[in-house]
Amino acid sequence: MKVLVTGGTGYIGSHTCVQLLESGYSVVVVDNLSNSSEKVIDRIKRITGKSLKFYKVDLLDKPALDEIFENEQFDAVMHFAGLKAVGESVMVPLDYYNNNITGTVNLCYVMKKHNVKKLVFSSSATVYGNPASLPITEDFPVSATNPYGRTKLMIEYILKDLYSSDNEWDIAILRYFNPVGAHKSGLIGESPRGIPNNLVPYIAMVAVGKLPYLNVYGADYDTPDGSGVRDYIHVVDLANGHIKAIEKLKNKVGVVTYNLGTGKGYSVFEIIESYKKASKKEIPYKIMPRRPGDIASCYADTSKAQRELEFKAVYGIDDMCSDSWRWQEMNINGYE
Ligand code: NAD
Ligand code: UD1
Repeated sequence: MKVLVTGGTGYIGSHTCVQLLESGYSVVVVDNLSNSSEKVIDRIKRITGKSLKFYKVDLLDKPALDEIFENEQFDAVMHFAGLKAVGESVMVPLDYYNNNITGTVNLCYVMKKHNVKKLVFSSSATVYGNPASLPITEDFPVSATNPYGRTKLMIEYILKDLYSSDNEWDIAILRYFNPVGAHKSGLIGESPRGIPNNLVPYIAMVAVGKLPYLNVYGADYDTPDGSGVRDYIHVVDLANGHIKAIEKLKNKVGVVTYNLGTGKGYSVFEIIESYKKASKKEIPYKIMPRRPGDIASCYADTSKAQRELEFKAVYGIDDMCSDSWRWQEMNINGYE
């Protein structure tokens, strides 16, 4: 089975390419390298001992995308390509709407033209906004508080409308909780440009000595230790969830939506402790005011994915932190 992976040189896409190749799929990557490095392709080959094809193409370039579909016979598409920084999306909303939404619409047009109608889409737990209760099930109300979140929500609606218009499509919408960690080899991982926004990459920079201390955004939440609680999921578990989803799409399923998380929440202080243990480094921190837009706690109800995909995350926070640390230590400047 041949799979097109958009955004395949990115953080989650690259780990999914490894799991796809190791599960016997043939893989073609499309990425414009706006937030990733072509070196990832060689790293994937080194890890798996298998080859994959790479096209440096932007999803906004519909004719170029069409040409790839002319040359290759895909059975399915995994669609990771997109811009993902919440703060940036507030500053340049048009870039986010254009890239994420127009990119997805272009992709769907070209897929339809070439009769490729199986799609796995990267959505986010951000579509649950501020949930009224926990854990979060897939049927919770959805909302968005920033342009990035709105692109995810709009794309979910677009994909549902597409299916309503043509029941030949099979689409899996995967709502990720907080992906962290890296492949055990230390060859691929998360390589954010500039100062990281997310917790674990920021801690990694502090542990490696590139940043002086961590800002803990709020220690006065209504949580056991006052810091924010999230459902962190190892990126390799997340990648395996995609394999389960694509297997599911081999049957006629219509549009299906799954949470991909572990179902367990950890606080910022618990992550700091685990990272200290993994890296054997001090992680100095300062308590700061809450970050605007943050919620106290967020974790998934994972029973639907467990029941219907037979997916269950196996890695815990100690694996997530030690794998993140191995990647960070082996690649002090990421892929640079
Ligand atoms: P990433 O930035 O590492 O990967 C995205 C890739 O898409 C990059 O390699 C980038 O160069 C590419 N890309 C962006 N726009 C493109 C375009 N127009 N044409 C071609 N390539 C393009 O991000 P990631 O963390 O791997 O996230 C993958 C997907 O998962 C994204 O859609 C993101 O919104 C979603 N997601 C991520 C998280 C997270 O915490 N990382 C959480 C929830 C959802
Ligand atoms: C963020 C995004 C979310 C996106 C997700 C994955 C925001 C408001 N939300 O989620 O839309 O889907 O990333 O990319 O940006 N923290 C600190 N110090 C830091 C960084 C984070 O204390 O330097 C805390 C946060 O307050 C939070 C937790 O760590 O409690 C996790 O934060 P982060 O990794 O940014 O993820 P989310 O905010 O859950």
